[in-house]
Amino acid sequence: MTETLHTIDAAADHERALIIDFGSQVTQLIARRLRESGVYCEIHPFNRVDEAFLDGFAPKAVILSGGPASVKAAQSPRAPDAIFALGVPVLGICYGEQTICAQLGGDVERSDHREFGRATVDIQQFSPLFDGVWAPGERHQVWMSHGDRVNALPDGFEAIATSDGAPFAAIADEARRIYGVQFHPEVVHTPDGARLLANFAHNIAGLSGDWTMAAFREEAIAQIRAQVGDAKVICGLSGGVDSSVAAVLIHEAIGDQLTCVFVDTGLMRAGEGEEVVRLFRDSYNIPLIHVQAEELFLTKLAGVDDPERKRKIIGATFIDVFEEEAGKIENAAYLAQGTLYPDVIESVSFDGGPSVTIKSHHNVGGLPERMNLKLVEPLRELFKDEVRALGRELGLPDHFVGRHPFPGPGLAIRIPGAVDREKADILRKADAIYLDEIRKAGLYDAIWQAFAVLLPVRTVGVMGDERTYDHVLALRAVTSTDGMTADYYPFPHEFLGACATRIINEVRGVNRVVYDITSKPPGTIEWE
Ligand code: XMP
Repeated sequence: MTETLHTIDAAADHERALIIDFGSQVTQLIARRLRESGVYCEIHPFNRVDEAFLDGFAPKAVILSGGPASVKAAQSPRAPDAIFALGVPVLGICYGEQTICAQLGGDVERSDHREFGRATVDIQQFSPLFDGVWAPGERHQVWMSHGDRVNALPDGFEAIATSDGAPFAAIADEARRIYGVQFHPEVVHTPDGARLLANFAHNIAGLSGDWTMAAFREEAIAQIRAQVGDAKVICGLSGGVDSSVAAVLIHEAIGDQLTCVFVDTGLMRAGEGEEVVRLFRDSYNIPLIHVQAEELFLTKLAGVDDPERKRKIIGATFIDVFEEEAGKIENAAYLAQGTLYPDVIESVSFDGGPSVTIKSHHNVGGLPERMNLKLVEPLRELFKDEVRALGRELGLPDHFVGRHPFPGPGLAIRIPGAVDREKADILRKADAIYLDEIRKAGLYDAIWQAFAVLLPVRTVGVMGDERTYDHVLALRAVTSTDGMTADYYPFPHEFLGACATRIINEVRGVNRVVYDITSKPPGTIEWE
């Protein structure tokens, strides 16, 4: 993995909240909810936070995440004691609440009454945490996921909400501004959760909500200028949202010092190459090298049907082509990438132990080392929805910013078996019709990703009076929040029927259409 020279830190001047991660599957959602309320925050593993870190980070609020460990287990993780001495508000969620209790003199026990899923809390007392949202005497839905539970509170704490499975479903030491909730306010199944988190950040910790994309844009531009000086920067455009937003932002910062390279693999969607060239070269006047490499990619892929080999060939060919073109730009010192925050966050391992895995960056496979380039990654602090907001802020068209994700290997992994130009053309046409129908039905934005897959199966059909023997096309559409899990999209049958009719009528080579109703897991989103 590339060691990033990370000097871009456009968030440095913002008020910050710190999220200490104990390995919950949903820790990222805490950050997203806070960011949505205008609060800049970062996630750091519990075992990477010490006094020196806290001095530098200077959080105005600390949130302790949930996690899979039991505070009753030997060697289970603890919050750094220094956070309680900072004098800033602390909120513990689930495991976070339990460790607060264990560390400050309360008690946690293993419970026979485990709570998983929807639960109801009874509000016992007024608290600034509940202000304007929940009042004493009311009952509200929350999402629980715990086996252990708090059994005795530390001095100074009171229960402000209870549930059947957790007598201390929410606790507070109002004087010290330390709070704990046994439920998960960060998930959508706790309908008022986002407002509770906003109460904690704004009302209790006094964070002003100064994190906006307009502010980020100005600061990121200043940071990019400071980082690269008068050096030249290369950016590989994929046609996707992240690299496009990164390129426009960097261009705004350093103008013609940036050159973009767009490698057309011949495996893009209909009209994609032309759209990228039109947008970047013509609308934004960004120097753009457009490499037409369809022939090369299809030749290398000829006869290869193993999915992993296809991916490797495409990756290696991409690097060769990119390197050759980038090598023509004299004195290039930096490679720009659209790396996002989820790629950067270090995750806590599930045994709660000290080992951490760093998720691998989706960088242009090893190029920075090969070409001796340093990295510019101006989106490192942003989530996908923030990148989209920044793209709009930069004036990128809505339909471009809202595009569905598209995989690096392109249509090759949507043509199971060997790929050739004829199949790519058939798939491109069918895919364009499918997406056109989705847009016309107003469903595009409700779907995470929709695409067609051309199967290596031929079936018999009848069109007019003639027998046909053509390909089967599968349609796929999923909802998802991050691509890690997904549900198939429940189109009305009439919609699917209309798509099938249009595709078979308009695309020569397809005589049967099926719809993929597999979720992820057990399926993946792409077919290869
Ligand atoms: P899967 O198929 O693993 O896909 O469920 C999850 C998400 O990742 C995208 N994807 C890729 N994106 N390079 C990419 O940039 C790849 O090699 C790649 N493979 C899958 C996929 O489209 C989905 O959004």
